[in-house]
Amino acid sequence: MEQKTTVISEAQLAQQQAACEQIKEYWMQQGIRPVAFVDTYGCQQNEADSERIRGMLAASGYAMTDTEEGADVIVLNTCAIREHAEQRVFGNVGALTHTKRRHPRQKIFLCGCMMGQPAVSDRVKHSYPHVDGVFSTHHLWEFPELLLRVLTTGKRVFAVADEAGSIAENIPVLRGNKLKAWVSVMYGCNNFCSYCIVPYVRGRERSRQPEDIIKECKEVIAAGYKEITLLGQNVNSYGKDLGLGIDFADLMAQVAQLEGDFRLRFMTSHPKDASRKLFDTIAKYPKICKQFHLPFQSGNDRVLKVMNRRYTSAQYLELVDYGRSLMPELVLTSDVIVGFPGETEEEFEDTLKLIERVRYDALFTFIFSPRGGTPAASMEDPTPKAEKNRRFDRLVELQNRISEEKHRSYIGKTVTVLVDGRDGDKLTARTDGGRLVRFEGSDELLGQFVNVTITDCTTWSLVGELE
Ligand code: SAH
Ligand code: SF4
Ligand code: F3S
Repeated sequence: MEQKTTVISEAQLAQQQAACEQIKEYWMQQGIRPVAFVDTYGCQQNEADSERIRGMLAASGYAMTDTEEGADVIVLNTCAIREHAEQRVFGNVGALTHTKRRHPRQKIFLCGCMMGQPAVSDRVKHSYPHVDGVFSTHHLWEFPELLLRVLTTGKRVFAVADEAGSIAENIPVLRGNKLKAWVSVMYGCNNFCSYCIVPYVRGRERSRQPEDIIKECKEVIAAGYKEITLLGQNVNSYGKDLGLGIDFADLMAQVAQLEGDFRLRFMTSHPKDASRKLFDTIAKYPKICKQFHLPFQSGNDRVLKVMNRRYTSAQYLELVDYGRSLMPELVLTSDVIVGFPGETEEEFEDTLKLIERVRYDALFTFIFSPRGGTPAASMEDPTPKAEKNRRFDRLVELQNRISEEKHRSYIGKTVTVLVDGRDGDKLTARTDGGRLVRFEGSDELLGQFVNVTITDCTTWSLVGELE
């Protein structure tokens, strides 16, 4: 049976607001100002969700804290992308028995992508009795009611029903950063890359209405944010489900034309749908950062096919070449998987060749991790772990050399950066392409765009002088 996206109605959201008020009342009657700790694992999608969880908690009277110790509610927003991520969460959840013993009124919730897997929520139900509530990403908007139920009945709640996914607008949000704002443009993924759990745990692709996205962007610009990142697992599919004739490039062009002093980024883009129009749009608008995160996963066509990526390395390179022909300064980053089931030494070398050919500014490198329920998890995988580790090390070594060479080529150039913090006697800032730059300057520059001339570099950062 085909499942449909649920649009959460205003009445349902009003019910959540009412639950927030009741939670506030619950604590006020006891004369307690409750505190909450929200811990986030995984990607920007989860970061953005956590900002909404904090928003709902703040609306329920909670102050935020940065430790489990003494928190009245703990929310762990989990990630299922690789086994290692899941093991970390289980380890940390186990340790919470002790913090709860020291603070018996503590309530513990688990949410996020791991909870979209029935086997995981069952394990929590049976083996982690100190966990009070579990909800999958589809049920995030219901969190106030779930919390209220746990507080008032003391019973455990599990909101994990499998759905195609929902869209809920106007959930309160408490952003974690004063300068950089995440704005989701769509949720879910339809691609079913054979190794990936995301489509199973985040449901089908669903786009927000363009006017809701523009409204949120205007709000963050008015609030003084200097950087907006438009988020989605596959932003190039934006709008296909809306039937309005608006694609992601059109949407970005609209945001890039908003008034104000800000810059615009986006992630992530799937090479099979990344259009020339998108590159043209990036080139056209000064507010769009000249940076593209374009995951390639493997440089070998047989492996790409088994991964169900639906492009060839030649098509990928054609896109990169087009982007660079328009914008020679384009910063390119990517994701790559080593040790996919059945990957041979020669196939792995195709990956190294692609990296040499593209010369990425930075790479996120992963060793294949089998995820239960995905096709790749049951594929034959004869390559020993030690061999995969060796391939991984070769890949990292190659990328480190390229990154360092790229860094060195910045010396003598002047770049515009957004000053975002202080580390000891230096200010820290990011270039358009997301590179870390350190330089001397006063705190008055925090939150401003300034020009810096690069004088030196390390493998990880650039060193500069204020213009
Ligand atoms: N939607 C994004 C990627 C999200 S997951 C995209 O398609 O580009 C981020 C990265 O994690 C992926 O690009 C991939 O490189 C890696 N990844 C996903 N599943 C994995 C698995 N089972 N094992 C190892 N790495 C994985
Ligand atoms: Fe996973 Fe592929 Fe979707 Fe990215 S595009 S989230 S890798 S299934
Ligand atoms: Fe992890 Fe979910 Fe993101 S699985 S990488 S948090 S979409």
